[in-house]
Amino acid sequence: MFYKTDENKHGLTHDPFKALVAPRPIGWISSLGADGVVNLAPYSFFNAISDRPPFVMFSSSGRKDSLRNIEASGEFVCSLATYELKDQMNVTSAMVGPEVDEMALAGLTPAPCKLVKPPRVAESPVAFECKYFKTLSLPGLDGAEGNLVVIGEVIGIHIDDAYIADGRVDTAKLRPIARLGYMEYAVVDAVFSMDRP
Ligand SMILES: Cc1cc2nc3c(=O)[nH]c(=O)nc-3n(C[C@H](O)[C@H](O)[C@H](O)COP(=O)(O)O)c2cc1C
Repeated sequence: MFYKTDENKHGLTHDPFKALVAPRPIGWISSLGADGVVNLAPYSFFNAISDRPPFVMFSSSGRKDSLRNIEASGEFVCSLATYELKDQMNVTSAMVGPEVDEMALAGLTPAPCKLVKPPRVAESPVAFECKYFKTLSLPGLDGAEGNLVVIGEVIGIHIDDAYIADGRVDTAKLRPIARLGYMEYAVVDAVFSMDRP
């Protein structure tokens, strides 16, 4: 089959696009409101976009609390969403007002960061401390505002030593979860290696 995305006449019961860009890593983004309230939300339009220096991005469909907080404060933290934390991750996606601390809502523990003010998720084995770089505004449909891509530089990284062996991070042991299409997720618990030509 083939369909033009501007018409989106794919004939399927659900839009297949996100099921085709899968898996997408989940950025579990914490930020601080002006009043000091902790904000935590998952974003699966998320990825690393460079490594030296490391930059990450996430894309917000509309001006959500994370975007507002990060543009105002210049900082955010990205904790790793793992299979063990999947239910808490899901709770933090609730559409609640900026006055609600989603870390507390999900029963998670804030842990202090070293270089930025927002806390990381203590239960998560990995966290990136990030400095806001810029927002890229994507064109939307029919002249409307599209998604807003927030780019940040990773200035500090926490790794739980229990997941390090022989000088390498054991990704399968971390069991990161990723978003597929629909309500589906994947977990990375098996890996393979391949040498480059
Ligand atoms: C796994 C998962 C991935 C999500 N990815 C995105 C995303 O990429 N962009 C987005 O705008 N919302 C995404 N959402 C929805 C947000 O998490 C949700 O709107 C949340 O309330 C936003 O919180 P905030 O207003 O505190 O930033 C996702 C939800 C889940 C459960």
